[in-house]
Amino acid sequence: MESIKLDISKAVQFLNPGAVEALAPQVAAAQEALENGTCPGNDFLGWLHLPSSITEAFLNEVQAVADTLREKCEVVVVAGIGGSYLGARAVIEALGNSFAWLENDRKNPTILFAGNNIGEDYLYELTEYLKDKKFGVINISKSGTTTETALAFRLLKKQCETQRGKAEAKDVIVAVTDATKGAARTAATQEGYKTFVIPDNIGGRFSVLTPVGLLPIAVAGFDIKKLVEGAQVMEQETANDVPFAQNIAARYAAVRQALYAQAGKKIEIIVNYQPKLHFMSEWWKQLYGESEGKDLKGIFPAACDFTTDLHSMGQWIQEGERSIFETVISIEDPNRKLLFPHDDENLDGLNFLEGKRIDEVNKMAELGTLLAHVDGGVPNIRVSVPTINEYYLGQMIYFFEKACGISGLIQEVNPFNQPGVEAYKKNMFALLNKPGYEAESKAIRERL
Ligand code: PA5
Repeated sequence: MESIKLDISKAVQFLNPGAVEALAPQVAAAQEALENGTCPGNDFLGWLHLPSSITEAFLNEVQAVADTLREKCEVVVVAGIGGSYLGARAVIEALGNSFAWLENDRKNPTILFAGNNIGEDYLYELTEYLKDKKFGVINISKSGTTTETALAFRLLKKQCETQRGKAEAKDVIVAVTDATKGAARTAATQEGYKTFVIPDNIGGRFSVLTPVGLLPIAVAGFDIKKLVEGAQVMEQETANDVPFAQNIAARYAAVRQALYAQAGKKIEIIVNYQPKLHFMSEWWKQLYGESEGKDLKGIFPAACDFTTDLHSMGQWIQEGERSIFETVISIEDPNRKLLFPHDDENLDGLNFLEGKRIDEVNKMAELGTLLAHVDGGVPNIRVSVPTINEYYLGQMIYFFEKACGISGLIQEVNPFNQPGVEAYKKNMFALLNKPGYEAESKAIRERL
């Protein structure tokens, strides 16, 4: 089997010669600190050897619960936010047929997502849609207290119980949460839901290979064994004993750091040329944004879907402030084949493309954009992925996680906490008059 590849040749030309290699000692120190558990955030390193620690028996257990939901539900709503939903959504959307949700005769349950916003219209429309559906819920929250998720779960639980009866609802509601703490655990224990534990030492954004991601992905009908297998291979290929020159996670972390610290590139745009990868980019954005953006430091992670966004963001990227670099996820071979047809009248003047794969046009757009952006002063990193399937998504997930851990440490931040996320919550609770927030409530109103 092949592996994903990293090409930094179009990025190093913006750096002093040897700048990436010069970071090898710092990268090695970060790798060692991760391995020995001597880095900041060392109580959150459970993801590091997670792939190789997953047993077949555990995957069978996840699959068995997924099979029950698949059998009993036409729709499964995944309630979760941030790291408790983005990974699952990224994989499900990357692997799924873009139009399957429009078909009446589906072989897989439709997976919907809630608890990741507080949009009243969204929740109203969701509950309306679910009215005549046999639906189940996967309630995912490590803390078990996240407002967005808890709010959606209360609505969904009530509706599920009303529509199916409490006894049947119990069999189609699953909680993925802390082993002992939080409201999600309390509800699960009281109601007798099937549960999976999110290990204490794995933070949300590093949890896609726990049941947080694995259960929804299996319910959607995808092969979680292949996903984990891909991650296991990448765990080996990015291990500390793999030399810097061949270690793609080490090199990606180093080139990002060199671009940031030496070339003033403060923004990284993750780019895909496949609409199915939109949520992979969203997952990546959270992984890097929440891990690195602290202590007044951090590369700002942005995302663009090309060629779509070449018609909206292309101008800025080509000629705006030169503070950006791009990381392109390039899919070598799409799963489907579609040839461009002949047209006798050639009214659109496109007969020169006759007989070519649509992907060839996409690839030439990708190469043309690469050269144009490099000419315009945008360093380009390329992650080549043989095709979109479970195995390579597993590789990508672990590759980006490992590089993120290294990268945060060489930026000298704790990549595994997110203290800044609490600020908005505190203000929101004060404004909502949550018991215990009386003093903040008065003070905050005076500022408005
Ligand atoms: O990465 C993280 O830790 C966060 O994005 C969390 O996943 C997110 O805030 C949801 O938290 P919880 O799972 O506790 O509901």
